[in-house]
Amino acid sequence: MSPDGGGDPDAEGTVSWRELWRETERRVGDRRVARWICEVASGADGDEFVDALDDPATERMVAHLDAMVARYADGEPLQYVLGRWAFRHLDVLVDRRVLIPRPETELLVDHALTALPAHPRPWRVADLGTGSGVIGLSIAHERWHDGMEVWLTDVSPDALDVASANAAGLGRAAVAVRAAQGSWYEALPASHRASFHAIVANPPYIAPDDPDVEPIVRDHEPHLALFAADAGLAHLARIVAGAGGWLVPGGTLLLEIGSGQGDAVTALARDAGLVEVEVHLDLAGLPRVVQAKRAAT
Ligand SMILES: C[S@@+](CC[C@H](N)C(=O)[O-])C[C@H]1O[C@@H](n2cnc3c(N)ncnc32)[C@H](O)[C@@H]1O
Repeated sequence: MSPDGGGDPDAEGTVSWRELWRETERRVGDRRVARWICEVASGADGDEFVDALDDPATERMVAHLDAMVARYADGEPLQYVLGRWAFRHLDVLVDRRVLIPRPETELLVDHALTALPAHPRPWRVADLGTGSGVIGLSIAHERWHDGMEVWLTDVSPDALDVASANAAGLGRAAVAVRAAQGSWYEALPASHRASFHAIVANPPYIAPDDPDVEPIVRDHEPHLALFAADAGLAHLARIVAGAGGWLVPGGTLLLEIGSGQGDAVTALARDAGLVEVEVHLDLAGLPRVVQAKRAAT
């Protein structure tokens, strides 16, 4: 596509966004996807994009649009192509450094938000294996109050860079956010032992040889974010084993799990001395979240 801008990449051409949207729809075969790509290329979202439909695009914008369409046509996940994705109330930066946030993780956040008010303020929360930061940042955004601390940790410095960039876009609630690199509890300051009201994690839980992993996931998302040894249970087991030492008495552990791991993670939690172990089902009736507590006394 050429905007006919005469050489200056920022000069306006003659092709309008209405035409570019139609052409992009023809190329990607989906009107909604075409619109999202055009919105990112134009820098205008929602109503702003509708208002700009008859404006001409610049050469630079059309080059960006073409590059995104080519990546999408090559099979790259739409979220990486767009460089952003929506999670609950947030619009977060996502790229190949992090897992694409999934709808089932929104459910994990729901359970964390329900569990927290049982504890006195100010709350201290850990989001272990934070990736793009969506879990901890949603908790900070939706339950922010003075004195709250939300720790975002990841073993991957690249992931932590993405989470920190997303934290910067959070506004006032960003004052609650701390970022720390390291493997599970090793990222947290030793002085914070036994002080977390909630520990929330969506760790890697897929068995490396799982035949059901879609090629688009296996080929594009970081394997560090996806796969775990011991039939996917290795990281879940480590987090469960350490939770009692980092939660306040009565504090809550919340873990996203694979749909076949409910019984195994429940057993791990009981073996670790945690109490009130519950498995929460998703909308399809599948076990996807395990909740457990450190005993109150
Ligand atoms: C399934 S992704 C979850 C990302 C994000 N929390 C979400 O829900 O979208 C798992 C994350 O755990 C991180 N991770 C893997 N091994 C880790 C370890 N030993 N310690 C801390 N984080 C780890 C990965 O880098 C990845 O960001």
